[in-house]
Amino acid sequence: MDFASKIRLIKDFPRPGINFRDITTLLQDGPAFGQVVNALADLCREMKPDIIACPEARGFVLGAPLAYVLGKGLVLMRKPGKLPGKTIACQYQLEYGTDALEVHEGAIRPGQRVLLVDDILATGGTMAAAAKLIQQCGGQVAGIAFLLELEGLKGIEKLGNHQVVTLIKCE
Ligand code: PRP
Repeated sequence: MDFASKIRLIKDFPRPGINFRDITTLLQDGPAFGQVVNALADLCREMKPDIIACPEARGFVLGAPLAYVLGKGLVLMRKPGKLPGKTIACQYQLEYGTDALEVHEGAIRPGQRVLLVDDILATGGTMAAAAKLIQQCGGQVAGIAFLLELEGLKGIEKLGNHQVVTLIKCE
């Protein structure tokens, strides 16, 4: 299946000059959504993850079914102030200002192999912070999976030596 054709391009969102890759059109297509999850699972099985972790919010959409298909648990990496228990945080740089991801203390056990999942790799700031946070928790990044990589932004360069798999690549 041509997954790329299922992703809608919206010009000038959220600002003039930005071409926004809208995954909602792919998610609305049941067979395409199912095949995307199975294809990512096939790419990630050999990473032998103990658990899956994904950043809010669009990462949840892929992380949850992937965890289900792989038979593993799921850790939600949330924006500040959303998790009710004690948290560990990692800040990252946005175009203007900073943001952060948090996980519950104890959600990742020392030495656990963690598969990180998100929908899109753009500048790489989100996933670089997510990987750092896993390591702060004592976990090991088993690998990183994306639905889509925007290659022109070179986000991959922020992900160091981690094993990265991506289903769709575009400029
Ligand atoms: C989007 C996307 C990735 C991130 C990629 O999330 O879902 O998590 O940006 O960009 P980067 O590689 O430049 O960090 P966003 O922060 O817009 O939040 P959302 O998932 O809640 O829409």
